[in-house]
Amino acid sequence: MDLSFCTPTICWWRVLFLLSIFQDYLSSMLDCPPTCSCSPTEIYCNKSDNGKFFPLLALQDTGSNGNNSNSIQDLFKNITSIHIENWTGLQTLRDVDMELYTGLQRLTIMNSNLRLIQARAFAQNPHLRYINLSKNPLTMLSWQLFQNLQLSELRLDDVVFDCGCDVRWIQLWQQRREAELHRQQLYCYSGASRIPLRNMNISLCDLPRTSVTHRNLTVVEGANITVACNGSGSPLPEVDWTVGGLHSINTHQSNVDWPNVHSINLTLVNMSREDNGFILTCIAENVVGMSNASIELTIQLSYLSLSSLRGVMLILWEQHHCMHCRQP
Ligand SMILES: *[C@@H]1O[C@H](CO)[C@@H](O)[C@H](O)[C@H]1NC(C)=O
Ligand SMILES: *[C@@H]1O[C@H](CO)[C@@H](O)[C@H](O)[C@H]1NC(C)=O
Ligand SMILES: *[C@@H]1O[C@H](CO)[C@@H](O)[C@H](O)[C@H]1NC(C)=O
Ligand SMILES: *[C@@H]1O[C@H](CO)[C@@H](O)[C@H](O)[C@H]1NC(C)=O
Ligand SMILES: *[C@@H]1O[C@H](CO)[C@@H](O)[C@H](O)[C@H]1NC(C)=O
Ligand SMILES: *[C@@H]1O[C@H](CO)[C@@H](O)[C@H](O)[C@H]1NC(C)=O
Ligand SMILES: *[C@@H]1O[C@H](CO)[C@@H](O)[C@H](O)[C@H]1NC(C)=O
Ligand SMILES: *[C@@H]1O[C@H](CO)[C@@H](O)[C@H](O)[C@H]1NC(C)=O
Ligand SMILES: *[C@@H]1O[C@H](CO)[C@@H](O)[C@H](O)[C@H]1NC(C)=O
Ligand SMILES: *[C@@H]1O[C@H](CO)[C@@H](O)[C@H](O)[C@H]1NC(C)=O
Ligand SMILES: *[C@@H]1O[C@H](CO)[C@@H](O)[C@H](O)[C@H]1NC(C)=O
Ligand SMILES: *[C@@H]1O[C@H](CO)[C@@H](O)[C@H](O)[C@H]1NC(C)=O
Repeated sequence: MDLSFCTPTICWWRVLFLLSIFQDYLSSMLDCPPTCSCSPTEIYCNKSDNGKFFPLLALQDTGSNGNNSNSIQDLFKNITSIHIENWTGLQTLRDVDMELYTGLQRLTIMNSNLRLIQARAFAQNPHLRYINLSKNPLTMLSWQLFQNLQLSELRLDDVVFDCGCDVRWIQLWQQRREAELHRQQLYCYSGASRIPLRNMNISLCDLPRTSVTHRNLTVVEGANITVACNGSGSPLPEVDWTVGGLHSINTHQSNVDWPNVHSINLTLVNMSREDNGFILTCIAENVVGMSNASIELTIQLSYLSLSSLRGVMLILWEQHHCMHCRQP
């Protein structure tokens, strides 16, 4: 940058100017959007608007002033309900759009132009109970969006999906009477015709199944074990063991050996006593949904490692052997 024209006074004015712009920007983001009405707990936008973005854009943590960003977070957190109607420019709900509304319970985005909801759009909104996406041109929706929510109602009236495996989960939720979906007349396009989603026939499209090699597993401290998990079904599921918090060293080995089976071996080396009671869970997931199977670990302390209880262990050890001796 050429600084020759920047006398100290001019520079100072520039800084002030930039600061004032930034402040306007900040406060405008926290103001109620012009076509909405707001209260401390609700944002209600029922006038049509061609805004492209979700109201009150998610503010990245400024980090500079702890107090300020805390109160901003509080402000967002206190919002429990957002209603958006007739926002013709709103096509995408992005991952960042709702991340500051951590206390949100009810969300309505209806009669807008929503075509895509990004995968983690609701990841920071664990209290969402009611979602209304009626009358949007969504063609598909993934169950993973709602994975960590306890939805009491999901309204999808007048959304016409594309028939296919991607929306099979909605059909299953209707059958299971989840999120009030069974009370809604939902449709999908099959070629040129619109059919009730209930009647959609999709082959090779079902929930995955999981099976594991062991029920509960008892091993001696320091031992090595391998457990295997099969995730089967079509579409072929992603399979994995959850090992977060496990102390023993572990390695995963994945192989897809049959058209519909994806198996994962988990090898644990030098089993740690701290893993006693740990529950190993294998999860299989595809576009239709997920299933899981678990193994509970019981770690027996090895007699060598417990010198203080040596006597007791010796007796146990002897009893164990005698039992074997008595057997024919
Ligand atoms: C939203 O738009 C529809 C037509 O697209 C109109 O009938 C309705 O009155 C509008 N609602 C509001 C609240 O503006
Ligand atoms: C929008 O909501 C306000 C308050 O809820 C109401 O007074 C107004 O009539 C509504 N506007 C439209 C166009 O529906
Ligand atoms: C936060 O506010 C308190 C009192 O209002 C003040 O003492 C403190 O210095 C502030 N902290 C920061 C990081 O601004
Ligand atoms: C948020 O709600 C709490 C409790 O209802 C209240 O004490 C606090 O002042 C509110 N914060 C803001 C920024 O409105
Ligand atoms: C949700 O969607 C339905 C169906 O389109 C609509 O009639 C209803 O008013 C919406 N509910 C709310 C709370 O906006
Ligand atoms: C789906 O299959 C069932 C029986 O298998 C049949 O009765 C029904 O008509 C089929 N639906 C469509 C839309 O093809
Ligand atoms: C996993 O699948 C393979 C191949 O189909 C089978 O041989 C094996 O017994 C299965 N294991 C479990 C734990 O189901
Ligand atoms: C596995 O452990 C759980 C919890 O300790 C117990 O409820 C269950 O009966 C055990 N299953 C088997 C097959 O031992
Ligand atoms: C466990 O595996 C490790 C590494 O593969 C090996 O060094 C060790 O001897 C094994 N321990 C037992 C008890 O088999
Ligand atoms: C996975 O484990 C099973 C049973 O323990 C074993 O039969 C199989 O060979 C292992 N597969 C691989 C790829 O290590
Ligand atoms: C096995 O773990 C114990 C403690 O958990 C550690 O002292 C020992 O060195 C480990 N052995 C190997 C071969 O890693
Ligand atoms: C396993 O499946 C059950 C029933 O579907 C579910 O409640 C649970 O959260 C799942 N566990 C994990 C670790 O995903």
